[in-house]
Amino acid sequence: RLIAKLPTIVAAWARLRRGDEYIPPRDDLPFSDNFLYMLTETVPHPLWSEVFDDCLILHAEHTMNASTFAGMVTASTLADPYTVVASSIGALKGPLHGGANEEVVMMLREIGTPAQAHAAVEARLNGKNKLMGFGHRVYKNYDPRAKIIQKACHEVLGELGIKGDPLLDLAMELEKIALNDKYFVDRKLYPNVDFYSGIIYDKMGIEVDLFTPLFAMARVSGWLAHWLEQLRENKLYRPDQIYSGEHDRHYVPIDRR
Ligand code: COA
Repeated sequence: RLIAKLPTIVAAWARLRRGDEYIPPRDDLPFSDNFLYMLTETVPHPLWSEVFDDCLILHAEHTMNASTFAGMVTASTLADPYTVVASSIGALKGPLHGGANEEVVMMLREIGTPAQAHAAVEARLNGKNKLMGFGHRVYKNYDPRAKIIQKACHEVLGELGIKGDPLLDLAMELEKIALNDKYFVDRKLYPNVDFYSGIIYDKMGIEVDLFTPLFAMARVSGWLAHWLEQLRENKLYRPDQIYSGEHDRHYVPIDRR
């Protein structure tokens, strides 16, 4: 039910908030077609639904990431699956995790053109700001999902006869700069899945603040798989904590402080 209903909820919210009527799901359409239809009232061009499907599959599961772990902690309390998914959504929202592709598109829009890419990277690094869509907690090489999405971006634009896309051109330039920059090379920072997925969604006309809900719509299948796995041999999570503060402190009543 959660896998089926999240797209309906996301599409309905996207329409209702701009004053449009909610469009009920169509049982005759495949998953991606149905979502895009509920969002736009149009059955998409097969190329868009294919590339959107690819994005959902690439986001569906990724082992022990922050949102999955958050869901598993909640699952270990034997909370219901809706609450498990609510916990996962909370952890997904931050810009270091699922919120990253939204940040990428905003960063690209702020930088503007490939000609400004070099200066923008330097300014970000000097200001100790991250280049969003780069780096990964586990991958210290090119995120294989980013390669697939980057290729899909080129293919879909090529097949639709769209020559050059400002965001994609700028993203490619940033990638080129970063892959040859000592800072990124030394730290093994490569583009991750979020660097290119936002560009596809943006090209499809999907609003930037829906990117994380799209991620949730895909990842809910992974979260629920881990929920089931957790229940198989459940033990309540209760991590140890190592106290590193001062010991033997004395309590001073407030009126004597
Ligand atoms: N841009 C610039 N510098 C970055 C960076 C980025 N995107 N990601 C990491 N770094 C730097 C850190 O500042 C740190 O530098 P230092 O050694 O000089 O202090 C070094 O690389 C290691 O960073 P750290 O935060 O320890 O790496 P991590 O593996 O724990 O972090 C992320 C992984 C994903 C949290 C981090 O790379 C990041 O914030 N990326 C941007 C957000 C993003 O795209 N998230 C989606 C992930 S799929």
